Amino acid sequence: MNQSSATASGWLLPETSLNEATEHYRKNETLMALCNGYLSLRGSFEEETIQLGHAGTYMNGFYEFHPLHYGEKFPGYPDNSQVMINLPDPKSVILTINGQTFSLDQGKVLHFERQLDIQTATLTRSVIWEAPNGNQVQIDSVRFVSATQKHLAGMQYQVKALNFSGAITLESLIALNRTNISRADDPRIGVTFDDAIWRIHNVYHAEQVLQVSGKTSKSQLEFRCTVSSVFSGAPHTIEFTQTDNKASLIAKATLQQGETLTLHKYMCYDRMDMDNPVSFALAMQQQGFNTLLAEHQAWWANAWAQMDIQIEGAQPLQQAIRFNMFHLTQSVGKDGQTNISAKGMTGEGYEGHYFWDTEIYMIPFFLYTQPEIAKQLLMFRYNTLEKARSRARELGHNKGVLYPWRTINGDECSAYYPAGTAQYHINADIAYAIQLYYNVTQDREFMENYGLEMLLELSNLWMVMGVFDPEKDNAFCIQEVTGPDEYTCLVNNNFYTNSMVKHQIGFAVKCLDQNFKLNANTQALVAQFDKKLAEQIVDSIYLPYSERLQIHMQDDAFLSRPVWDLANTPRNKFPLLMHYHPLTLYRHQVCKQADVVLAELLLSDQFSLEQKRRDFDYYAKITTHDSSLSTCIYGILACELGDMEQSYNYYIKTARTDLNDFHHNAKDGIHAANMAGSWMGVVYGFAGMRLNHGVLSFAPQLPKEWTAFSFPIHIQNKKLTVRIQADQTTYTLEQGQDLVINHRGKPVTLTLNQSVQLA
Ligand code: BGC
Repeated sequence: MNQSSATASGWLLPETSLNEATEHYRKNETLMALCNGYLSLRGSFEEETIQLGHAGTYMNGFYEFHPLHYGEKFPGYPDNSQVMINLPDPKSVILTINGQTFSLDQGKVLHFERQLDIQTATLTRSVIWEAPNGNQVQIDSVRFVSATQKHLAGMQYQVKALNFSGAITLESLIALNRTNISRADDPRIGVTFDDAIWRIHNVYHAEQVLQVSGKTSKSQLEFRCTVSSVFSGAPHTIEFTQTDNKASLIAKATLQQGETLTLHKYMCYDRMDMDNPVSFALAMQQQGFNTLLAEHQAWWANAWAQMDIQIEGAQPLQQAIRFNMFHLTQSVGKDGQTNISAKGMTGEGYEGHYFWDTEIYMIPFFLYTQPEIAKQLLMFRYNTLEKARSRARELGHNKGVLYPWRTINGDECSAYYPAGTAQYHINADIAYAIQLYYNVTQDREFMENYGLEMLLELSNLWMVMGVFDPEKDNAFCIQEVTGPDEYTCLVNNNFYTNSMVKHQIGFAVKCLDQNFKLNANTQALVAQFDKKLAEQIVDSIYLPYSERLQIHMQDDAFLSRPVWDLANTPRNKFPLLMHYHPLTLYRHQVCKQADVVLAELLLSDQFSLEQKRRDFDYYAKITTHDSSLSTCIYGILACELGDMEQSYNYYIKTARTDLNDFHHNAKDGIHAANMAGSWMGVVYGFAGMRLNHGVLSFAPQLPKEWTAFSFPIHIQNKKLTVRIQADQTTYTLEQGQDLVINHRGKPVTLTLNQSVQLA
């Protein structure tokens, strides 16, 4: 594909001129970050002498403890947070021409272009620089973080002498002077460490290989960064140097005019999970840059075949949806030991923590496109079940498990409990994802070995923490929790939480009759499970409703609070959380994000359209969407309610959140849940897909701005593609035998490779 058709088809994110403004540069460091779920390199320039932003190198799940300080500390407050840390930077270089070092402070940049290729997950840059003495060089670089070798990143850096012959020095280094962003005045980003985050305890060098080994100070996690640097294209000498700030190999060459010196870096990171990273780096070098890159690109070609959404007639949205799926796929941990953080692996916002964002927003995307990844995300929860059990005890619950609101290693990290630990709905969110996973995959083996055990323990928690409230006709009530909306905290009977609990416990009860072959552990849990109590809860759980307004109340007291005057709140006071004391927010009817409306999407078949409309109309007026998890949900509901114009506006805000930097903080990392929301916006929104009793149903509506859109869906080992045009929808079963779906309320049977077109 040539450059202009690639741009037109939304596969590229180009940058055509050099912009040195810090905010712009930092934003692009995020947008152009490359990662593979294990290792990440932010999209910073390679040159150590150009530090305009925050060059980040991260490993998923690799963290340092950060002590949490409280003015007043009470039992159950976590002692430490875990923080994803910035590690030594393996991609750095320093380039010197006839004694003049390439930087932006001297000489002139005559040409600059850079682009992220979303299709092949590569970042390329081309620069022509004129040194103060008039010598001009062309510098071309390309890099990737391998999708097939999780420890590996590869980089090619070429320097061509354009108008001179002379001495070139190219230093390939591992930069050791990296640290995390410090906390300023935004609670969503940065922590200030008192001590060094990590220390290097060994530097090794043999021929072209450099290795630094280090350890974090408190969490005592070990890492190694091993880099093989291969220079070619011109005769050169190499020497090794080491300072506190770097370990380097310096190549010196004399280039004739028109000659090129090339550096290939094979950069390997591990957390002591490799036998011999030095031999690995050498083996990678043997395979060569082009072979490794081709392997990486082939992986991506296959990934796109499983997930690509095509939007015809709206290039900016085509680009956005691909960009979003790209970041989700490259950021997600795929090993059951790591997860996907709210910022992917692209920045230090929210300290690299995993939230409910995974289960409610991101798992649907993975489940319907790359189901094995969805399973690994649930396995992460299974692998931290024991910690969730201890946490429940710590909070005084003698049964069940309580998952952390935010975490890396499975322990709770939230220091502000009203908008943290109190969000017990995380338990119901995980249970929801287990059920969705099972319904979509029919993976009994997962349920037998892991799913049911989690589900029962998740349910046990509610059974001991909720109460049958005599003041409410003995309805089952859940007190003192926070729902998804973080502008209304510590409430009784949050509608979302209670609805999701009802759904969860109902599912747990059904699972008891599934004849699962269970291990002894789960059998014991089944034996102890109080089925009668569970059924009673399902029948009597309290769902707050206002007869006066005929709407669901977000919680018992929600409608008793005064309505926040959003119309007269100045634009510069948003997001509200940055300008008002939390109590001011909590005392008003004002929402940060979808809450009631989210429940009505997730549990779609349990509410009438009229009810959804009333609830939507009420809550839309008082919702700020200060959280990026909100517009996607409102957009989907607006579509279901037939308001395509409103839905489309929400969709643009969702899909292009990071590309347009709508929240002004893309520099700190992508908004991963929102990105997955943009996938849901197409599939749940415009295509109207819902899963009811294991059957997919569609109610397609084409936005008038588009001519067509299409997407694949994986369900029960089958692959379906759906193409929606103005007057018809085409369903094609591409893998698997017969699949029954529902199109606008009518069942349709699809057979392999036969397209069915419906009006
Ligand atoms: C939202 C939460 C979300 C978190 C991480 C907050 O702003 O209110 O719902 O889990 O961001 O994305």
